[in-house]
Amino acid sequence: MLDGKKSLFSGMQATGTLHLGNYLGALKNWVTFEEEYQCFYSVVDMHSITVRQNPAELRKKARALLTLYIAAGLNPEKNCIYYQSHVSAHAELSWVLSCFTYMGELNRMTQYKDKAAKHADNINAGLFTYPVLMAADILLFQSDVVPVGSDQKQHLEITRDIATRFNNIYGDVFTIPEPYIGKAGARIMSLQEPTKKMSKSDENPNASINLMDDPDTIIRKFKRAVTDSDNEIRYSEDKPGISNLIDIYVAVTGKTIEETEKEFASSGYGDFKMAVGESVSSMLKPIQDRYAELAKDKAYIDKVIKENGEKAAYYANKTLRKVYKKIGFPQKIR
Ligand code: TYM
Repeated sequence: MLDGKKSLFSGMQATGTLHLGNYLGALKNWVTFEEEYQCFYSVVDMHSITVRQNPAELRKKARALLTLYIAAGLNPEKNCIYYQSHVSAHAELSWVLSCFTYMGELNRMTQYKDKAAKHADNINAGLFTYPVLMAADILLFQSDVVPVGSDQKQHLEITRDIATRFNNIYGDVFTIPEPYIGKAGARIMSLQEPTKKMSKSDENPNASINLMDDPDTIIRKFKRAVTDSDNEIRYSEDKPGISNLIDIYVAVTGKTIEETEKEFASSGYGDFKMAVGESVSSMLKPIQDRYAELAKDKAYIDKVIKENGEKAAYYANKTLRKVYKKIGFPQKIR
């Protein structure tokens, strides 16, 4: 809760280009919360440096992501959209919380294990303490809800554990957040290996749909999507490729799985892939158009960055001051 209104935080990394999983699993849901919640959506550039980044690229991608948040429908008057690195309270609270987090807890994080395996030459301490910075992000804004895809569930659980531990010692300092994981689209799989999630770091360009892909590319990637050979459009665990396409279609159109199976009962895979591709490309077209317009308006984006950064810092510092006081840091003399 913030100022008597329920609050919410979520974020995305500014690495790679956003893909369809990021959109259907998170961003698409974000736009539904603005009336009921005080919403904070960060471009989490501090998380991005757990993997080596090219500085010029990182700066460019961070701005592109912030612009894309707006293009996807987040009104910056109602949602606080800002860069994590502009609000120093993230780093400060992260240090405090790291003193309330056990090595054993962090060791169990599957995302850490995956990333450590992928970047064996750079298993840095930041990669290990990544979930603590995430906990700081969420707890700084006293978030009631955190809308994410299902791959972030474990990070939400550790956030709740850290907050509960802290509250048990110091009283009610933090709101304990609940994850919000949408019914459809919470786990979009790779189009080439449908047992693996769609991921920014996938080297095969046909495995993911990027939000900036043009209609021809989208259709081509769906046509090449890996499926099975029985040509029946049915949702089933032993048909991961087709089930993933059904999931995408359901998340995009709002239809149910049953309605989708019925709609395509007499179609083959070719027609179904085409229909999924067309639904995705018509969903993305207005976002892409709006993005192109917004990206040209430097003054407007700069204004959002400045004003929302200040707003985020105001609320974050409020929580940080409370935490510092509770743990016994001497107060500043004014
Ligand atoms: P990131 O940048 O990897 O992903 C951003 C959001 O997209 C969701 N997502 C998916 N959803 C469905 N299917 C997929 N294949 C898929 N891939 C990704 C993610 O669940 C996420 O919601 N650590 C976070 C960023 C972060 C954060 C936070 C999130 C930092 N601090 C605090 C929430 C709260 C991350 O790397 O997300």
